[in-house]
Amino acid sequence: MKLWGGRFSKNTALEAEDFNASISVDSRLYFHDIEGSKAHAIMLGKCGIIDTDEAAKIINALEEIRLELESGSANLNNDAEDIHMNIEKLLIEKIGETGKKLHTARSRNDQVALDLRMYLRDEIHKILELLTELEVLLLDKSKEHIGTVMPGYTHMQKAQPVTLGHHFMAYFEMFKRDMGRFKDCLKRMNVMPLGSCALAGTTYPIDRKMVADILRFSDISQNSIDAVSDRDFAIEFIGCCTLGMMHLSRFCEELIIWNTGEFGYIEMDDAYSTGSSIMPQKKNPDIAELIRGKTGRVYGDLFNLLTIMKGLPLSYNKDLQEDKEPVFDAGDTMKSCISVFIPMLAAMTVNKENILNNLKGGFLNATDLADYLVNKGLPFRDAHAAAGEMVKYCIANNKELIQLSMDEFRSFSCLIEDEVYEFLKPEVCLSRRDTEGGPSDQRVKEAILHGREFINHFAETINK
Ligand code: ARG
Repeated sequence: MKLWGGRFSKNTALEAEDFNASISVDSRLYFHDIEGSKAHAIMLGKCGIIDTDEAAKIINALEEIRLELESGSANLNNDAEDIHMNIEKLLIEKIGETGKKLHTARSRNDQVALDLRMYLRDEIHKILELLTELEVLLLDKSKEHIGTVMPGYTHMQKAQPVTLGHHFMAYFEMFKRDMGRFKDCLKRMNVMPLGSCALAGTTYPIDRKMVADILRFSDISQNSIDAVSDRDFAIEFIGCCTLGMMHLSRFCEELIIWNTGEFGYIEMDDAYSTGSSIMPQKKNPDIAELIRGKTGRVYGDLFNLLTIMKGLPLSYNKDLQEDKEPVFDAGDTMKSCISVFIPMLAAMTVNKENILNNLKGGFLNATDLADYLVNKGLPFRDAHAAAGEMVKYCIANNKELIQLSMDEFRSFSCLIEDEVYEFLKPEVCLSRRDTEGGPSDQRVKEAILHGREFINHFAETINK
């Protein structure tokens, strides 16, 4: 008979039982379910709701069940529907009558909300560790490439000179904000729902704070209806994953472009590339492409859960059982993508010569030429127009600005003098870009220093 079978006079149809069951998905909550149940049992014992020796017996049996689940000797099945009832059933099989007392002052509705919050707390810590590792690598790579001058782009057109170090640090900033978002998400995740029971709390003299303390929650939920029925914390978690994936995906897209023969800025390591089954010459950046592709799944996960939630009346509805797959998938995808991205980035080689060669041909110093004329007293708009004329002339004559003779320069503006040649060198253009957050050596060094500071102290700032 089902654990809830008292009022039923028929068995569940087999197809309904299979359809209703979630054990194949939620079995991975076993660890947190058992931790939650142990804390609940301790509290029931301490509050005199069950005997303390009964509580001890339940806790020991739950520990045994955990080991059995981990070694694969315990059976989980659709008949018991989900991880919560499977474990309760195993408990009753193991210790009989005493096992039947565990579910006093509890419902699966607050139990599943608890398990998911505990699972996601751990998931956030794992993701934060991976993001930290990625950030450390980016700081190292940025330092290595403080002096690697490269074209910066807007509209995929050469714009102004930057450095590869500055470019990498742009991603450092993005992932830093992602870390902040996960940390923020953790605050709202860290609220203990147990005691809300089905939806209306309980008549037993429970101690919710005690359970929260045992399970290291910083707060307890304030409304029993809300606690069993909202999944905003899970949506927020997926939301954090979507932004992290979006950043990873953009980075991958750039690496894919830079890895092309046309760009040749980088070469992906053989260990993170694959060949073609027909074209012998091919070496494809599959890993980066797959990360870009998997970003779509995580966006899908977000819309999946948002859509599940949008029309649900309070409080618990079985629709909520569908929350696990998107949540698990978003976390799994995020972790696997960062885990492979880190060694891929570490192993790729940078082809400085190709980057340097590519500084030519895009008039990266045209803005500087305008600035030069402004320094000589011309209003910016007039300086812009004059520099534009010079670019036009260069295009027609197949020259770089720096290749114009002094006579040619002066035919456009008599303000131009010899020092213009020095002024227009890419590395000189860069060194003048010395405002906070800019690409000059000094500013990038500063940014790396701040970045290290942030990473070194980040762990202390999160509530474990
Ligand atoms: N497997 C269920 C879920 O994940 C657990 C809660 C079931 N509660 C209920 N009243 N049927 O949502």
